[in-house]
Amino acid sequence: MDTTAPDALLAAALAAREHAYAPYSHFAVGAALIDEQGRIHAGCNVENAAYPQGLCAEAVALGALVAAGGTRISAVLVAADSAQPVTPCGGCRQKLREFAAGDVPVWSANLQGIAARHTLAELLPASFGPDHLGPR
Ligand code: THU
Repeated sequence: MDTTAPDALLAAALAAREHAYAPYSHFAVGAALIDEQGRIHAGCNVENAAYPQGLCAEAVALGALVAAGGTRISAVLVAADSAQPVTPCGGCRQKLREFAAGDVPVWSANLQGIAARHTLAELLPASFGPDHLGPR
């Protein structure tokens, strides 16, 4: 398996993870994305006392990418302190899919380094996307 994520992407996700606001789950997550210009955008999970209002690290990173003018995602990396590789939750898979092709790599890392690699299509097969809506 190719588990060679760009070092800078891993570093960005781990750095963002340090700022995670996770007082309820105590499960800190960092995510980093590469956009179509090669820029890296990172995010961490931001929990809330009203639990369902919490944000995943991937969603925060995606917001940073869009706010910076990014339009496409070419790579994703999620980092957490977990023996079992952490992949994006179902909702985040769909959020990422809006801006990423099926062959985009989604790396999972823990504090020891890269632990798994999937493509977005492997994580979200037969997905629904903008094309289904047709021209409008
Ligand atoms: N979480 C993420 O931020 N990303 C993932 O890929 C998995 C889960 C967060 C949500 C919540 O703040 C905490 O991890 C526990 O589920």
